[in-house]
Amino acid sequence: MAQIGTDISLAKDILTRGDLVGIPTETVYGLAANALNPDAVTKIFTTKERPSFDPLIVHTDSLTNVSEFVQEIPVKAKQLADQFWPGPLTLLLQKKSIIPDLVTSGLDTVAVRIPRHPLTQALLAQLDFPLAAPSANPFGYISPTTAKHVNDQLGGEIDYILDGGSCTIGVESTIIGFNNDIPVVYRLGGMAIEEIEKVVGKVDKMPHSSSNPSAPGMLASHYAPKKKLILGNLSDLKNKYKGQDVATLSFIKEKDQRHAYFLSELGDLNEAAQNLFSKLRELDDLPVDLILAELVPDEGLGRAINDRLKRAAAL
Ligand code: TXA
Ligand code: MG
Repeated sequence: MAQIGTDISLAKDILTRGDLVGIPTETVYGLAANALNPDAVTKIFTTKERPSFDPLIVHTDSLTNVSEFVQEIPVKAKQLADQFWPGPLTLLLQKKSIIPDLVTSGLDTVAVRIPRHPLTQALLAQLDFPLAAPSANPFGYISPTTAKHVNDQLGGEIDYILDGGSCTIGVESTIIGFNNDIPVVYRLGGMAIEEIEKVVGKVDKMPHSSSNPSAPGMLASHYAPKKKLILGNLSDLKNKYKGQDVATLSFIKEKDQRHAYFLSELGDLNEAAQNLFSKLRELDDLPVDLILAELVPDEGLGRAINDRLKRAAAL
């Protein structure tokens, strides 16, 4: 198992020698390596069993650093960066050659983000390289929101996990690219689209496609538990699967029943996002055959929650 702690200089040493460290962010935990070292980045792909066609996000701690990695920062990207960085927003920008092709899977854009977690910000301040970091889960499984989640699944393969507590946002960053200066959503996430549209106006949606090479993260069955998860109206579903051993996941707390889980006691979407992945993990570990779940209101972070629930249901 990995060592878990808050030792930034140990994390720095491990990353500097080209190995991996689990790092906390406000969205989910990342599996970090020196983004400028292709050998280190290769370890991310092998450890996660991630296909090499799925590009990584580069994390850094200032706009000055970002400008070293990208050709230019278009006006709307700059407006979003000024408004939301550090925070749960990733921008796709034309890359400079300093970013290895392995990081971007050969694409000419690089995904960049300035995360908001204080421990990871303190770590980045100590490093003279940016960190490539996908979510710290085996490819296709639920993203981790605690150091323990990371240790449970990847602890055997990495030396150290920086422990920054439970992630406060709980779903991955929103990814925005640009098509002729028009912002395009590549992935719904922890920054609500409504907030983004207040700054840059209407954003386009990337068509959902499991074979779209410019957004491999759109693969339908991502973020999936091992158990079968069925989405719908909970009372209908409970009726339909009456004879079977089921667990349920509702948005708001319902009456106490065996294996009845909920995302937010009073129906707060931010709290629901924070709880989503740890509840899915708990459900996945129960001795039941099926997980029955319902969608949440499709607004704010609810859109990202529904996106993850639909992918979790797509087997
Ligand atoms: O919140 C987050 O974004 C977390 C934390 C650790 O920062 N990271 C994360 O990384 O979710 P990952 O690798 O699990 O998801 C990154 C997504 C992938 O679906 C990938 O396809 C997409 O970003 N991506 C990366 N670079 C891209 C690019 N140049 N063009 C299109 N999509 C890209
Ligand atoms: Mg991921």
